[in-house]
Amino acid sequence: MKFFIDTANIKQIKEANDLGVLDGVTTNPSLMAKEGIKGKNNIHNHYKSICEIVDGDVSAEVISTDYKGIIKEGEELAALHPRIVVKVPIIKEGIKAIKYFSNKGIKTNCTLVFSPGQALLAAKAGATYVSPFIGRIDDIASDGVKLIEQIVEIYNFYGFNTQVLAASIRHTMHIIQCVEAGADVATCPLDAIMGLLNHPLTDIGLEKFLSDYNKLNKV
Ligand code: E4P
Repeated sequence: MKFFIDTANIKQIKEANDLGVLDGVTTNPSLMAKEGIKGKNNIHNHYKSICEIVDGDVSAEVISTDYKGIIKEGEELAALHPRIVVKVPIIKEGIKAIKYFSNKGIKTNCTLVFSPGQALLAAKAGATYVSPFIGRIDDIASDGVKLIEQIVEIYNFYGFNTQVLAASIRHTMHIIQCVEAGADVATCPLDAIMGLLNHPLTDIGLEKFLSDYNKLNKV
């Protein structure tokens, strides 16, 4: 089970990386915009900075929607750093591009996935990762975790190598549910990762241990 952080914020990426359990980063154009990163050069430099911090896959999303544009943009992104994964939307031109990248040995993350059929196409095209957006499914009163279960079952049954990357995770419980559903990766906001640490009995137990120690060992 791999942990990715879902942000383009350098401070948060460093904080998650310092924990020692971070396996990668996912970004998207909205997350880049949130950090005020604009212009091709700045965007490329930002991806390079992220790659220098984290020793794992870093998803960089294309903004083209036509085949030639996706290929050109994806090849430029892949050339930035060996750990860049080209993130491509699940559209007709995107699937064709994922097949092209797969044949060339360029890693891909097929994004904006909301159904088992889309995940099947991504795997058939040879995507490295498929990103089902579970939070956005929950937002429309449907079941995002159920989609993870369905995709995991399909991939296991047919032996696809594409890794299921649970995305659009909104809170800590989502992470646990995705682990139970068999996701290969969860990409999470920093506070959802940190939430895994929390338990009131840990706080109570630690306080008692320290107070018992301090009773006999005056500091
Ligand atoms: C991941 O790859 C996506 O960019 C991200 O998880 C989307 O999350 P959101 O639905 O919170 O925007």
